[in-house]
Amino acid sequence: MSIFRHHRKRMELLLMLLIGLAWGILLSELLQRARWQFDEEDQPYQSSNYPPSSYMWSTSDPSYQLTTMPNNLTTDRGDLAERLFKETRVLCMVLTSPKTHRTRAIHIKRTWGSRCNELIFVSTKSDKELGTVALKVKEGYSNLWGKTRAGLQYVYTHFQNYDWFLKADDDTYVVMENLRSFLYAFTPKAPVYFGSKFRVHVKQGYMSGGAGYVLSKEALLRFMEHGFSNSSICSNRSIGFEDVELGRCMQAVGVAAGDSRDEHGLARFMPFSPLHWFSDSPNWYRPYRFYTSSNSTNDCCSNSAISFHYSNAKDFYVLDYVIYKLRAFGVSRPQEQLPMKQPFQEVMESLQKWRTSKPEKLTPAIGDHKNKQKLKPNT
Ligand SMILES: *[C@@H]1O[C@H](CO)[C@@H](O)[C@H](O)[C@H]1NC(C)=O
Ligand SMILES: *[C@@H]1O[C@H](CO)[C@@H](O)[C@H](O)[C@H]1NC(C)=O
Ligand SMILES: *[C@@H]1O[C@H](CO)[C@@H](O)[C@H](O)[C@H]1NC(C)=O
Ligand SMILES: *[C@@H]1O[C@H](CO)[C@@H](O)[C@H](O)[C@H]1NC(C)=O
Repeated sequence: MSIFRHHRKRMELLLMLLIGLAWGILLSELLQRARWQFDEEDQPYQSSNYPPSSYMWSTSDPSYQLTTMPNNLTTDRGDLAERLFKETRVLCMVLTSPKTHRTRAIHIKRTWGSRCNELIFVSTKSDKELGTVALKVKEGYSNLWGKTRAGLQYVYTHFQNYDWFLKADDDTYVVMENLRSFLYAFTPKAPVYFGSKFRVHVKQGYMSGGAGYVLSKEALLRFMEHGFSNSSICSNRSIGFEDVELGRCMQAVGVAAGDSRDEHGLARFMPFSPLHWFSDSPNWYRPYRFYTSSNSTNDCCSNSAISFHYSNAKDFYVLDYVIYKLRAFGVSRPQEQLPMKQPFQEVMESLQKWRTSKPEKLTPAIGDHKNKQKLKPNT
């Protein structure tokens, strides 16, 4: 009898131990998930659950550098993209700051930045691995115009041998092949720039900063030769909204704010990430849009989209994988063709149209998602 009781007691003890263990595991799992959810954009990743095991983050380093390349993308460039790479030469200037060299900029270098013909990081501190250009400008969001100005000046004096000059922030993702194929139709001799066109502040519209914008060679030349040293044309102050200041300046030196929508009227430069589209419908964006006629509320963006804002390092790798690696089996893609190069005269006519066109009428939002968190307008 006593042996039996003793045995029962031991069984009870064992059971309790097991239950305790199960609870412990469950709790730790929940905590891990919660941490992952609150992982903010600017914070280095802290969850041990992320990134997946194929990504080796060195946790002893607070910057959590990748020690292996997740993708070898050099093998994935098709013939047409290869040809474009040589024909439509794009210099990428990424604005960054010492605080985000490790959390954002380095991941641009390892993802989309590697597909630029030339990649330059403009910052205020030098960084060997990143290869930054350290400019003597004030740091901070309110001084972004000063940094952009100085960056463009640096690019103009050191890099003449490119057709197009892209400005991106370190939270912008760019599909370089789509940028090139869009630009292919235009001559870089045309005074034009493209981006996500907003309707306020500047008569011809201006390009929202976060989605990035691309200046033709001629546009950069006009900015430097006519605007840069004449403060009555282009602001020479450090303070200012970078995108609005550039927009005013571009208009003043006769650079047209181009239309980069696709044949369905869908935008190619997006001031938010596709990863936000379905969860945080960016309602703030609607009243800013220059073009409003696209009535598509489910289709986030053009199939030939060029850029996305509000992307973080995780998004860079996710987008790289989805765009360059993932294929649906048995779903073939149509034969791709380069667009026709437009004759100079035709391009000039388009530019004239863009200089004088008015923002399209604001329409009430169709099928706006309700009660969704809004993204802040930003540059
Ligand atoms: C990527 O692939 C190319 C072609 O197969 C190869 O030459 C190159 O060394 C690879 N790069 C890396 C970093 O693995
Ligand atoms: C600056 O631009 C204004 C307006 O176009 C012009 O009148 C003035 O002569 C320019 N100043 C210089 C120094 O070029
Ligand atoms: C801006 O331009 C004005 C007038 O040309 C000049 O007096 C001023 O020193 C310039 N400011 C800077 C920061 O270069
Ligand atoms: C609006 O939607 C309809 C139906 O899908 C489509 O036929 C039409 O082309 C769209 N309009 C624009 C401007 O995209």
